[in-house]
Amino acid sequence: MKLKGLKVKDLRNLAEVNLDLCPHLNVILGLNGSGKTSLLEGIHLVSLARSFRTQQNRPLVRHGTNELTVFALIESPSGVHKLGVRKNSKGETALRLDGQKAKNSSALASLLPIQLITPSSHELLESGRKQRRAFIDWSLFHVKHDYLELWQRYVRTVRQRNAALHQSQQAAIVWNEALLKYGEEINRERQQFVVSFSMLVAPYIQQLLDNISIEFDYYPGWAKGKDFSQALADSQESEKSMGYTTVGPHRADLRIRIDKHPAIEILSRGQQKLLVCAMRLAQLEHLRLETGKTGVVLIDDLPSELDSEHRSRLLSLLEKTGAQVFVTATESELIDTTVWPAVKVFHVEHGQVKEVVQ
Ligand SMILES: Nc1ncnc2c1ncn2[C@@H]1O[C@H](COP(=O)(O)OP(=O)(O)OP(=O)(O)O)[C@@H](O)[C@H]1O
Ligand SMILES: [Mg+2]
Repeated sequence: MKLKGLKVKDLRNLAEVNLDLCPHLNVILGLNGSGKTSLLEGIHLVSLARSFRTQQNRPLVRHGTNELTVFALIESPSGVHKLGVRKNSKGETALRLDGQKAKNSSALASLLPIQLITPSSHELLESGRKQRRAFIDWSLFHVKHDYLELWQRYVRTVRQRNAALHQSQQAAIVWNEALLKYGEEINRERQQFVVSFSMLVAPYIQQLLDNISIEFDYYPGWAKGKDFSQALADSQESEKSMGYTTVGPHRADLRIRIDKHPAIEILSRGQQKLLVCAMRLAQLEHLRLETGKTGVVLIDDLPSELDSEHRSRLLSLLEKTGAQVFVTATESELIDTTVWPAVKVFHVEHGQVKEVVQ
């Protein structure tokens, strides 16, 4: 998967940008407020139909205009694809894939698997479990073609069961069979992923965090040692007081520990960022091993929190994954490009993006 070309119109301060991209490393340089993050936001938008900075359309649309568009040309094993997204300040979003309307973003997302690393990436370790479930589900979505549908069925069943619970616990029983069927399947897939992932991530942790030993443990969303049906049967009391389904994969977590303590309590901020990078690298490798696909990695403000030694190590590990990488920084000296077979450098100034001919 390689992003060959990108056209952006009226996204934040980017009035009109038209770029031919490098299949390996793309370095985006510019002063604060020049438009670097906005450019990464454009790539994120065309894959996932949403920004990583806001849920709303209005802040994304360039002041004085009513809509933004992003087009991307993707080279994939199935050929060249054209992806497009249009968002207007009324909150409407339209997606296009190869000249046709696309109903939802999953077809675009599967053509352009995106990994994002930002100065807030440590939130994966720090914030609620939802983000860590999303981390696991990112891999399963890209690797198992029916996983999204399975997850959607499960979520619908939880919703219907919760609505029934508002009437009575008796009324909710009718949904138990479907809940257990979909829930157990999701649990199996996630457990398997975490086992493979734990093996893949270990060498990256070793190289980025020296010899810190980190354990990854999947918590299924109910007490360990029970199966889902037992946990559901045992949850009647809590269900009654809470009024919703209190056990299941919608409550799962990926627990990340060092010597039985949550990793977040021990690691420095830079180490937290490096751990998240190691996790993303392992995900990319898992994707490549399972599907042959290489991802696209967006790293906003690579230098933040990282010293030059760790920046170089990270870039060199990224190069080995075969991923196409986009990094932003304020100065070129901060990015060590030596190991890359090809590099393009872009300079951003007041929303204008120009390739720097080297
Ligand atoms: N809707 C909008 N319309 C026009 N300009 C906007 C809009 N939203 C934000 N901006 C401006 O866009 C510019 C680009 O912001 P961006 O976050 O991309 O900068 P950056 O190059 O990543 O900066 P930094 O190095 O500080 O992270 C900012 O100057 C901001 O004021
Ligand atoms: Mg920025």
